[in-house]
Amino acid sequence: MLDWTQPQRASLSTPASRRSADPAETTGLGSIDREGGRVSVDDKAMINCRADVNQLLPLKYKWAWDKYLAACNNHWMPTEVSMQADIALWKSRDGLTEDERRMVKRNLGFFAASESLVANNIVLAIYRHLTNPECRQYLLRQAFEEAVHTHTFQYIVESLGLDEGELFNMYREVPSITDKAAWALKHTQGIEDPSFATGTPEKDQAFLRDLVAFYVIFEGMWFYTGFAQILALGRRNKMVGIAEQYQYILRDESIHLNFGIDVINQIKAENPDLWTKAFQDEIRQMLREGAELEAAYGRDTMPRGFLGLNATLCEQYMHFIANRRCGQLGLMPVFTETENPFPWMSEAMDLKKEKNFFETRVIDYQSGGALAWD
Ligand SMILES: [Fe+2]
Ligand SMILES: [Fe+2]
Repeated sequence: MLDWTQPQRASLSTPASRRSADPAETTGLGSIDREGGRVSVDDKAMINCRADVNQLLPLKYKWAWDKYLAACNNHWMPTEVSMQADIALWKSRDGLTEDERRMVKRNLGFFAASESLVANNIVLAIYRHLTNPECRQYLLRQAFEEAVHTHTFQYIVESLGLDEGELFNMYREVPSITDKAAWALKHTQGIEDPSFATGTPEKDQAFLRDLVAFYVIFEGMWFYTGFAQILALGRRNKMVGIAEQYQYILRDESIHLNFGIDVINQIKAENPDLWTKAFQDEIRQMLREGAELEAAYGRDTMPRGFLGLNATLCEQYMHFIANRRCGQLGLMPVFTETENPFPWMSEAMDLKKEKNFFETRVIDYQSGGALAWD
């Protein structure tokens, strides 16, 4: 009996029979099969599955359900974070250096559009092709979290009185940000085409490429330099409101990343024929390209170093992270082994500690029983 609480390893699996997926059968919106039998756990599969996707139970992938529950327990809203200290610092003439202001604005500009790109990829590209209800349940929660993250940037723009046009257009107007967005979009264009369907090795690999581009590289690599930049300010008591919001976003994103890794590994396990040596090399090349694009962004956002950060350290951080992501996907590393130049980032990720360096207010969202409904 397989343990479905963990993503399966490819070596333990047998290939799932691949059929050409009929979109009407895999969306869950086709005509109802009145004569069909009930869904059993063994009928369920990550992609190209014909078992009814409207039946959450019986659960097969407990790892997906557990992430859904963890995400719900992490609920937060950006407006709960006070921006008073940030507003005072941003408005004071020498509160921040010009280099720090440039980095903060570009960082916000990168995230502001990226959250929407990730959300649109989930809703318009990934959701339809992931034929498992517990994974879809998580995607629905993730899509909401991306909306909360986009809301965060609206709230920051409003609080600090930033130029909204400048910030929300950076992904089109600042080349180092545009290059990243364009690279990721290349991998979703096609998948979001209504006529695209998985069901052949080429199409299934195209779907995997999209998952790697968005979950592993966009959310799992690029976001991490962005978090490091803002949290480096927060550690020095600068822009503490934004830093606190970034801690909450980081907590959400680390689950998004791990969900994406589990989804990819589960698809690999069920369809080991997709994970050829040539395809593995292609994925490793994607991670290499992702790290290079991020190094260019680091040079652009931080032409000079400050607060223990500089473009060279950010590039080293990307190499460290890219190798870690390779390990999580069962791939050989892409860069020479290197130390993590920002070891304090792991501390920033652990919001569950009783005390962290921002002494942040942790809101208990699990007290629904205390609410009065009448
Ligand atoms: Fe996000
Ligand atoms: Fe995300």
